[in-house]
Amino acid sequence: MSIIQEGSATITTTNPKIVSKAMPVFYNPVMKLNRDVSILLLKSIDDKALAIADPLAGSGIRSIRMSKELPKSKIKSLTINDSSKEACKQIKKNIKQNKVTAIVTNQDANLFLLTSKGFNYIDIDPFGSPNPFLQSAAIRIARNGILAVTATDTAALAGTYPKACQRKYWAKPLRTEEMHEVGLRILIRKAQLVAAQFQKALIPLYSYSKDHYMRVFFRAEKSKGAVDEILKQHDLYKGAGPLWTGDLQDTKLAKEIAKNNKDDTIQDFLNLIAKELPVLGFYDIHALAKKQKLKLLPKTEDLIKAIKKTHKATKTHFAQASIKSTITEPQLIKLLKSKLLKNI
Ligand SMILES: C[S@@+](CC[C@H](N)C(=O)[O-])C[C@H]1O[C@@H](n2cnc3c(N)ncnc32)[C@H](O)[C@@H]1O
Repeated sequence: MSIIQEGSATITTTNPKIVSKAMPVFYNPVMKLNRDVSILLLKSIDDKALAIADPLAGSGIRSIRMSKELPKSKIKSLTINDSSKEACKQIKKNIKQNKVTAIVTNQDANLFLLTSKGFNYIDIDPFGSPNPFLQSAAIRIARNGILAVTATDTAALAGTYPKACQRKYWAKPLRTEEMHEVGLRILIRKAQLVAAQFQKALIPLYSYSKDHYMRVFFRAEKSKGAVDEILKQHDLYKGAGPLWTGDLQDTKLAKEIAKNNKDDTIQDFLNLIAKELPVLGFYDIHALAKKQKLKLLPKTEDLIKAIKKTHKATKTHFAQASIKSTITEPQLIKLLKSKLLKNI
């Protein structure tokens, strides 16, 4: 066991030198940003007095940080669950050590959710795919509640295993530079379809792809009309999908999250997301130049400046040297080839 400091929490957990599912009490330091963003999102929305559920809690670090870092008015109750006995034993010790008040339960996450009265915030943070828990989370998320979903099975979502994607997410992935955006949109649609059965519309509030995982926060609206509107925005893209073609962020919220952050190490990432143009797909400049056999390339910033003379354009968090823009591919190729760029 090791003592870990993360945010305002100090916890004891299995030594995270080699992170694996086999850890008696799971803790992955790489997921600090995932937890940071959850806390920032809850800080940045107006919702108060939330009943919060952490059904796959590991060491309990996420809930402990929420309790210590969010204003008291945000949380009505905190329920921390894990199916591992050892994890629960440690969660109890960790909440005591951090002087946090929470209910700790030791159940299968589905049983835990389905036998509950429901929650305003449910954070599904499993090993691999969130699929096994989507249905019970969709049933138990309260009206206008927030459902957070992590998927770490990016090999399926981002197209390494297309058949696995089809089986698990009912969609065809893409194996190009855009694979992470496509994978995230496939994940979003899958969760939306599961919730649609219960007349719940899952509207993405904030979503991103990072390291080995994809993450999305939904606002759950109980309305048949809203569900119908969601389903209208499922479509194919470049032969992949069906996937969610709508917005990945609530732009106002994304800006608020970037503004409320105080950790320099994640500021650039949050800014990228907050500024990202809400369009489907992006141009990878190197891939485009290779296809066009162009040897000289402008800097991404310079190219964005040039595009912005006639169109909208921003960087994207999905890939380096890539641009989201309203410009069409032929127009962009023409611009890339033109003398205009040389004069920037
Ligand atoms: C990725 S870890 C959670 C990490 C934690 N949320 C965090 O932020 O540090 C997944 C956890 O789910 C637990 N788990 C796996 N299957 C489960 C199930 N069916 N029901 C409840 N917990 C489960 C594991 O014991 C493990 O602690």
